[in-house]
Amino acid sequence: MLNQQSPLLVTGGAGFIGSHFVLDWFAAVDTPLVNLDKLTYAGNLRNLEPLAGRAGYTFVRGDIRDRALVDSLLRQHRPRAIVHLAAESHVDRSLVGPGEFLDTNVHGTFVLLEAARGYWQEMPAEDREQFRFLHVSTDEVYGSLKPGDAPFEETFAFRPNSPYAASKAASDMLVRAWHKSYGLPTVVTNCSNNYGPMQFPEKLLPLVLDRAIHGQPLPIYGDGMQVRDWLYVGDHAAALRVALERGKPGETYNIGGWNEQANLHTVTMLCALLDEMLPDSPHRPHARLMTSVADRPGHDRRYAINATKAERELGWRPRETFETGLRKTVRWYLDNQDWVEEVTSGAYRQWMETNYAGR
Ligand code: NAD
Ligand code: DAU
Repeated sequence: MLNQQSPLLVTGGAGFIGSHFVLDWFAAVDTPLVNLDKLTYAGNLRNLEPLAGRAGYTFVRGDIRDRALVDSLLRQHRPRAIVHLAAESHVDRSLVGPGEFLDTNVHGTFVLLEAARGYWQEMPAEDREQFRFLHVSTDEVYGSLKPGDAPFEETFAFRPNSPYAASKAASDMLVRAWHKSYGLPTVVTNCSNNYGPMQFPEKLLPLVLDRAIHGQPLPIYGDGMQVRDWLYVGDHAAALRVALERGKPGETYNIGGWNEQANLHTVTMLCALLDEMLPDSPHRPHARLMTSVADRPGHDRRYAINATKAERELGWRPRETFETGLRKTVRWYLDNQDWVEEVTSGAYRQWMETNYAGR
């Protein structure tokens, strides 16, 4: 019989959001959890060091596309839910090599859904009601907003513009179909841009921080007036926890920060924080390092989330303001330069060359 002590099976729990989710889970709930992660360039077991030796925590290195592995984990651990975060997540990489995005985000989600369906269909009826498949997705599925447009609601049509966004939209649709066709109790969350500690420095905030600390140019795509709705990653982890507990099967919840910022403004804020926290840096004022570079092809102009449904039905609202969240984030990167150095060696340099050399 499934109960509240039955484990979760988390995919992608060694990535940025996944590791925050796993750490938050043990801090807030502390029931068993199995973390299945392939450890691509974006997965990092250092993020989970606080859990070393922790009772109830199991790490499995493996691929969500490996059906035999997923089946055996379901048989062995009998989880009460699957929390699916594993994905290729960087838009610029999807422009350079979309194939891996389709393989992992679409085919990987399909494999997981089929394994979950097999497992779920064999359960007794009362367990079938309890089980959840929580699919973690993005606001990018909705496409791009114009300045005066209303923020994304759950009912909006999908208009993905990048290979990454299209692969996530496809995976959301598969999840929808597995609920409608087979009754699998799925919950989907579509979240805006996350920031915070332990984010891989290919994404805007950690990339800018790393480069500013070393006095290197800060690449601003196009005019820098693209708007993102930033959410502190700890708030996202909490939202996923409550979506798992209170989300209704078949429903989608938009998760966002109520925090729209133009990229230029975000980078200026980061630079000001570095000026304050590194008073002796020879690179002050850091804002002078900002450099306009060629825009991202198909660059979405604006994302904004209407998170009213999550507040009303899940009782969730973000806790951090942009100021408090950014301050924590900058502090963490300054205090964890060894983490950054470790992940920016080797293959990272090759990526920087691929993405930025020709801009
Ligand atoms: P990330 O790139 O930091 O981490 C992804 C993790 O998935 C890594 O640990 C990686 O090793 C693992 N992984 C990749 N392919 C795998 C496979 N085939 N099998 C098993 N594990 C695999 O990503 P993130 O930023 O933490 O995003 C997590 C999820 O949240 C993604 O589904 C993403 O689409 C979604 N999301 C991200 C954001 C954001 O701002 N970062 C916002 C909304 C939604
Ligand atoms: O909206 C949610 C999405 O947010 C997630 O689904 C994705 O996984 C996540 O990567 C993020 O996508 P973005 O493309 O918005 O994030 P990124 O950090 O790559 O870029 C943020 C903004 O900054 C975007 O407008 C592009 C711009 N940018 C980015 C980089 C890397 C720059 O101007 N310069 C850069 O060097």
